[in-house]
Amino acid sequence: MRREIAFLKKEIQGKINRITDQEELKQVRIEFLGRRQGKLTSLLKQLVDLPLKERPELGKLINDLKSYVQEVLDKKEKVINEEKNIEEVDITLPGKRPFLGGLHPLTQILQEIKRIFATLGFEVVRGPEIETEYYNFEALNMPKFHPARDEQDSFYLSKTHLLRTQTSPVQIRVMEQQTPPVRVIAPGKCYRRDAIDASHYPMFHQVEGLAIDKGMAFSDLKGTLTYFVHQMFGPNRELRFRPSFFPFTEPSAEIDISCAICRGKGCRVCSGKGWLEILGAGMVDPEVFKKVNYDPEQYQGFAFGMGVERICMLKYGVDDIRHFFQNDLRFLRQF
Ligand code: PHE
Repeated sequence: MRREIAFLKKEIQGKINRITDQEELKQVRIEFLGRRQGKLTSLLKQLVDLPLKERPELGKLINDLKSYVQEVLDKKEKVINEEKNIEEVDITLPGKRPFLGGLHPLTQILQEIKRIFATLGFEVVRGPEIETEYYNFEALNMPKFHPARDEQDSFYLSKTHLLRTQTSPVQIRVMEQQTPPVRVIAPGKCYRRDAIDASHYPMFHQVEGLAIDKGMAFSDLKGTLTYFVHQMFGPNRELRFRPSFFPFTEPSAEIDISCAICRGKGCRVCSGKGWLEILGAGMVDPEVFKKVNYDPEQYQGFAFGMGVERICMLKYGVDDIRHFFQNDLRFLRQF
């Protein structure tokens, strides 16, 4: 009898592992625990044929096995039910969308600017945001007390160092490092002590451009910027080159594009002019070449500087520069 009990235990252990669904589980339950024919039930019935003094001990062994079998079968049933629940998940339901971030509109415009100039062979370079007076002003032909320094009210950090007011100092750093031909753009932050309003912010972004080679002419500047504007704003935009002044370019020009809102007729956005200013540019002044030991007889070049916020505002019709820096998701999500 003892051997039979041990054998049944082995048997049940083997069977449990092979059970895969409720139906099989039910069969095994009946096979072992069934009231009439269950293997354990009939074992209990056989007890009466044994000598009296052996009955209690063997009876206990059988009952222990019975509870063991019940326990493992219940456990197995739970596992099967859980597996069934997993299968009942409706995989055709739409999932929960993870929250997606996006690129800031200024980053997007910057990427677009870089892409356009890359197609013309311009390499991206960077310069420091903390500059010396020499790079920010002097080398750009703005000696001390030059009136143009006043127009760019600056943040001085010490007697000699300031936050750059423009990306033009990168021109000087590049020319000091490289020999012509040069073809670079230099994006980055600039700082001016301006009061904040719809079109001014003390920190803003510029992209500087510089191209130097033998035999460069104003027509190269014109062609490059026309290509850029048509890529950025579409081929129907017109450009206007207005004579202007920068200490480090000669001749200098400010470039306007036709207003997209009124198509040149004049409206509120362009203050009735029909044109919007987007760039400053010019041919590199020979005085600047002298500072970096380039021979102005041999080399010519052009430079330009554009405000990234301004381009972004014109492209998307943003009417206030402050939107870019307030991190209001209602604004940012529109891009
Ligand atoms: N640095 C000038 C500005 O900030 C723009 C400029 C760059 C003009 C290069 C000419 C050439 O206003």
